[in-house]
Amino acid sequence: MEKETQNDFEILDESKVPESVKHLLDDARHVMENAYAPFSHFKVGAAIRTKRGNVFRGCNVENASLGGTICAERGAAMASVASEGYGRFKAIAIASGSDDPAPPCAICRQFLAQFTDPDVPVYLISVKSGVLKKFRFGTLMPYAFTEF
Ligand code: THU
Repeated sequence: MEKETQNDFEILDESKVPESVKHLLDDARHVMENAYAPFSHFKVGAAIRTKRGNVFRGCNVENASLGGTICAERGAAMASVASEGYGRFKAIAIASGSDDPAPPCAICRQFLAQFTDPDVPVYLISVKSGVLKKFRFGTLMPYAFTEF
């Protein structure tokens, strides 16, 4: 019998997603162009729509002291708090250049968990292959540390 596999994400066809999602993907792709990645040459862009309806963008910014690098997702989250103050996130899009679109790193998942409910959609898009995946944030970041 063929083994059944169950994915915890959806593969979407970009031509069929709602306009609001398409715009968020466009924002992530555009800001990705601004990434400063002279060391890894791996550019990432992130766009976050807040519950207030604004979109904030971030790209990875690397540093010669490599550990000083800031990821795109944290950049976008920082921009949202700097502009709006604390608020909740409604949708997140992340663009990168790998065939299989890159998921947020664990540090970024923890950072985003401060502002993001488990049911929030996270869209990952590859600018190379066009592969578009949709995750629930809670699937990417179960058991987040949120209080002490
Ligand atoms: N990067 C991000 O911007 N977001 C992630 O979640 C994964 C990694 C960046 C950091 C670094 O500039 C490059 O990708 C390679 O790790």
